[in-house]
Amino acid sequence: MSSIFNPIEYKINTRTNWNTVASQYHNNWANSDVGPFKSTNELVKAAEIKPDDSVLDVACGTGVVSKEISHLLGNSGTLVGIDISRAALDIAKKSIQFKNVDFIEMDAESLGFHANFDKMVCQYGLMFFPDAYKVLKSIRDIMKNDGKIAIAVHGTQAGVPYFSCIMNSILHYIPDIRVKGTPTVHRFGSPDDLIKEISTSGFLDIKIKKFTFTYHTGNFEEYWVDYMNSTANSIWPKIKTKGTEIVNIIKKEAEKNTSPFIKNDKIEFPWDVLIATAYK
Ligand SMILES: C[S@@+](CC[C@H](N)C(=O)[O-])C[C@H]1O[C@@H](n2cnc3c(N)ncnc32)[C@H](O)[C@@H]1O
Repeated sequence: MSSIFNPIEYKINTRTNWNTVASQYHNNWANSDVGPFKSTNELVKAAEIKPDDSVLDVACGTGVVSKEISHLLGNSGTLVGIDISRAALDIAKKSIQFKNVDFIEMDAESLGFHANFDKMVCQYGLMFFPDAYKVLKSIRDIMKNDGKIAIAVHGTQAGVPYFSCIMNSILHYIPDIRVKGTPTVHRFGSPDDLIKEISTSGFLDIKIKKFTFTYHTGNFEEYWVDYMNSTANSIWPKIKTKGTEIVNIIKKEAEKNTSPFIKNDKIEFPWDVLIATAYK
């Protein structure tokens, strides 16, 4: 890995990582309606889907948002889901019965469409795009004049301690775990940053709604194992090379970080989510 952020290398790793974790992500998170995934319903509501809409689901993953949308579309409605991970798309294809749906392997930064969409939804995808401005701008180009977008992102570090309790401890002991400039999950976690990105891309009438969901991880050990197998899957090999002593120190500090969230020996995290809507 080079020490300067390289968007191509980052995207290759992103694809490999999502291909590895897709089925676990689907079963343990997205399709289980846990914690942050209470947003699926809110995002779809915010998009105000009509039966004859043509809808684009960007970074559709394993298709949980698309599935909800497919229930609202009629015979003349259409749905396209795009994602960089084939394994995620394979799950999406199997889980949706709707006849006018297409799932396509595509990089959101190179959208190959000449379509005219009424709606665009994107749940927990925007922060992964190195050039999010480019993605939003090209989405705007392929939307109808009154087209509406609905985007869900994770909140700030403080608002989503599930990520930061362990990650801050990793960064404390392995500051170069990620190359400088690598996008983080909290990138658009503050409303001002999200509004700025969306308005710079030309969208109007931007509205942000904040939700705070609750996520139960079980005890610390369960949280640690789940985190290393999912969120930290791609950096775990590098963490391990530091040796058992450092891993144990990281783990101890992470456990200390979770203490404000312990209830009856289990961890109960708040989870801030922002849902933005805007019009072309
Ligand atoms: C947290 S998942 C969200 C999936 C889905 N929207 C959901 O709510 O379950 C993030 C998704 O973004 C996809 N992704 C990351 N970078 C991408 C890119 N450049 N183009 C398309 N998809 C991308 C990943 O493959 C992954 O499926």
